[in-house]
Amino acid sequence: MRISVIGCGYLGAVHASAMAALGHTVVGIDVDERKIAQLAAARPPFFEPGLPEILASSTATGRLRFSTDIADAADAEVHFIAVGTPQAPGSNAADLTHVDAAFEALLPHLADGALVVGKSTVPVGTAARLAARLAEAAPHAALAWNPEFLREGYAVKDTLEPDRLVYGVGDDRAQHVLDQVYRAAIEAGTPRIVTDYATAELVKVSANAFLATKISFINAMSEIADAAGADVTALADAIGHDARIGRRFLNAGIGFGGGCLPKDIRAFTARAEELGRGEAVAFLREVDAINLRQRQRVVDLAVELLGGSVHERRIAVLGLSFKPESDDVRDSPALDVAVQLRGLGADVLATDPEAVGNARARHPQLAYTTSTEDALRDADLVVLATEWREYRALDPVEAGRRVGVRRILDGRNVLDPAAWRAAGWEVRSLGRP
Ligand code: UGA
Repeated sequence: MRISVIGCGYLGAVHASAMAALGHTVVGIDVDERKIAQLAAARPPFFEPGLPEILASSTATGRLRFSTDIADAADAEVHFIAVGTPQAPGSNAADLTHVDAAFEALLPHLADGALVVGKSTVPVGTAARLAARLAEAAPHAALAWNPEFLREGYAVKDTLEPDRLVYGVGDDRAQHVLDQVYRAAIEAGTPRIVTDYATAELVKVSANAFLATKISFINAMSEIADAAGADVTALADAIGHDARIGRRFLNAGIGFGGGCLPKDIRAFTARAEELGRGEAVAFLREVDAINLRQRQRVVDLAVELLGGSVHERRIAVLGLSFKPESDDVRDSPALDVAVQLRGLGADVLATDPEAVGNARARHPQLAYTTSTEDALRDADLVVLATEWREYRALDPVEAGRRVGVRRILDGRNVLDPAAWRAAGWEVRSLGRP
């Protein structure tokens, strides 16, 4: 099929490349000239495992092009809107400026029978509003809402082999067109839920709200575990064996961040209030508060470990991205903790395998290195903030030779405390004795 993808950020760049890899002819559109130039040269503007390969192979076949001119989308049969919906400044609500702008820019270029497919995460009600606008401005085109569930770090796999497809549609034709787009996944037996716009929009935000709630639940248990002298990781293992609960997303630690979970639960709360049902999701405020408290707990524990003040003490912060296998530092708990410790006067040296550039652009006041060895050198305290494989695999004996004092705060509960203690380290974490 001929496809356009409007918005080439984390979602759109992966979606465009994956659709081309499936054999469709794709044009990716973005207003950011630099991003488009990089993508056209088959250089991903961000770190995402597997993306360089499918971007290179698809651009080489000529099936994948990039442009800053929306008119280049005109001959597509299907247009995916994949622009960002960040938190609006000074509010919890989602900022729909980019969705509305992309949609309006597309309208004059829609061919008869074209299908516009929303992928961006939007407040429930947005698709119905856009469908009404479409009926008036381009009555021969149709709208569908097809939320995206990809995880950064696994985005290519999640797009090529989704665990489910959700279509919010207004008529059968939209379903038929989407079935052609996703034929490979459907033939592989991927479950497909065809529903109305509002349900499709809600599926997305409720999925993220559930995941955020699961993480904050276990983090709340880690607070209780700390007070009671219990071990939250053993607790998570034990309750996780109950198939109704499941072990995934029960890793207690510094909390969730990124460009999705934090802003999505806030936008959901804001939208529920507009619908007069604020109390139904009032618990999400608590989920958010528990999550932000984790960052404070890490900072407080660092202060405690250094005897009451971090002032002028050398702290190595390992990890800056919001999670491993990503260079994304949007609302990253790791970066937030590094900045807070710096603000308290600590001599912070922060490192990350991929995210130093993005972190430095946001917080130039912090000192950075791309070398773990450098970060560890003479440290009074090591804070493991993002569980990259190379930090999980650190050898406590080797690392112990580099630091000033063998003291580590495991902000992700991924180290084996016994092995580290055996190598002479003082080990602390959230929710473990
Ligand atoms: C999330 C959802 O998982 C995707 O399904 C969704 O498509 C995406 O948002 C989106 O809305 O676009 P992502 O933001 O890539 O994906 O990250 P997650 O893997 O969900 O992790 C979110 C945060 O939770 C990370 O900071 C991670 O470190 C943290 N986390 C995760 C925990 O603290 N504990 C856990 O047990 C799991």
